[in-house]
Amino acid sequence: MSRMQIEFLRSCPGVEQLPTDGLPEIALAGRSNVGKSSLLNRLANGKNIARTSSKPGCTQFLNLYRAERGYYLIDLPGYGYAKAPKKERSKWVGWIGEYIVERKPLRGIILLVDARHPDMGSDIEMAELLRELGRPYIIALTKSDKLKRGKLAKAKQKAEEMGPVISVSSVTGTGFDKLGNWLASVVTD
Ligand code: GTP
Ligand code: MG
Repeated sequence: MSRMQIEFLRSCPGVEQLPTDGLPEIALAGRSNVGKSSLLNRLANGKNIARTSSKPGCTQFLNLYRAERGYYLIDLPGYGYAKAPKKERSKWVGWIGEYIVERKPLRGIILLVDARHPDMGSDIEMAELLRELGRPYIIALTKSDKLKRGKLAKAKQKAEEMGPVISVSSVTGTGFDKLGNWLASVVTD
């Protein structure tokens, strides 16, 4: 993939604070700790634009980034973060749902799934929702560097029950060419 310039714009505490200029948006969705922020950093050529953490629940806002090619990337709060207070949690879940169902400039979703857990109920539900809504999406099977080849092939096969899959690693850079091609195809559609 050719080099991609991405800059952090702001954290939005709700859908109302998102841009109103109508530029295309691509969202990153996935369980807490699945590697959303790491994937963004890798897309930005390893520049540390997104805060990553080994503690789940680090990203609690809709974090807004701008890609130089004229679209936005939105790092959604991770779902399935059990330790957050219930009230907070339902607020984030509400944002994710509201955003994915209603957002007009949304062109596509990168659904991140941990290669070590390719059959989590919450991911399957998210994929079903996206399919029902007719939203274009791609499954990025993250942390693929953590699995041996045979196990990864099995995980990929399992994840493919949810939709089209690209195996990625934010550590080695595997899969980012393909991911870049997918991004380019959905934003220019
Ligand atoms: P929240 O914002 O809390 O929902 O998490 P997140 O989805 O943004 O995950 P984040 O990028 O912060 O990564 C979580 C942990 O997984 C960090 O310790 C990362 O270093 C690690 N990680 C992310 N991607 C990869 C990967 O491709 N390979 C390996 N080995 N570790 C990864
Ligand atoms: Mg994050």
